[in-house]
Amino acid sequence: MPYEPMSDEKFEEMSRTFNQKRYPRLNLAAILQEIGVAPGKTVLDFGCGPGNFSIAASTLVTSSGLVYALDIVPLAAKKIAAAAARKGLDNLRTITSGGSTGLDDDAVDVVLLFDILHHLEPPEPVLTELARVLAADGLLAVEDHHLEDDDLVARVEEGGPFSLSGRTDYAHLFSLVR
Ligand SMILES: C[S@@+](CC[C@H](N)C(=O)[O-])C[C@H]1O[C@@H](n2cnc3c(N)ncnc32)[C@H](O)[C@@H]1O
Repeated sequence: MPYEPMSDEKFEEMSRTFNQKRYPRLNLAAILQEIGVAPGKTVLDFGCGPGNFSIAASTLVTSSGLVYALDIVPLAAKKIAAAAARKGLDNLRTITSGGSTGLDDDAVDVVLLFDILHHLEPPEPVLTELARVLAADGLLAVEDHHLEDDDLVARVEEGGPFSLSGRTDYAHLFSLVR
C-alpha cells in the first residue's frame, strides 16, 4: 500500500494537540451512538490516531462487541493497548497497517474513517479493503473537516463501491453498492 507513517514525534505532537483542543469539544459517545455503534457491534476505527474514538466505541459495544483500532504508526497500537488495559477493556484489538486489515470478509458492522480521507492519496486501496471487510448491511462513516462535503462524497463514491446513504451531525454515512 502506497502510504507512509509519520514519525513517533509527530504522532505524539498530534495526540497532544487532539487531546487538548479537539476531543474536549466533541461528545464522542453521542457521535458514535448516532452512527449506530451499539452493544454487540463490530467496529473498525481506521486511522484511529490517539484512539479516543476506539476507546469510546469499545465501551459502547460492550463485551458482546469488538473494536479494531488500526493505524499505520506502530506507536498508536502501543498507546491504545495500554489505555484499554488500564480501563479494563478486553474487547479492543489493535492493528498496525497502512491498508490491509487482516480481517475476514464481511467481519465489520461499522467502519469509522475520521479525519484521514485527505491523507489517502490515492483512496482506492483503502476503500477497496474497507468494502471487503464491511458486512453487506454495514456502514462506512466518514468525517473529514479538511475536505468540502462534495469532495468528500466524490472521493468515497469514486474510490470504492460505496454510495451516500445518510448523514449525522458529525459524519457522512455510506452503504455498500454490490
Ligand atoms: C488526523 S489523525 C485522525 C485520528 C482519529 N481518527 C480522529 O479522528 O481523531 C489521522 C491518523 O490516520 C493515520 N493514517 C494516515 N494514513 C494512514 C493509512 N494509510 N493507514 C492507516 N492509518 C493511517 C495517521 O497515522 C493518523 O494517526
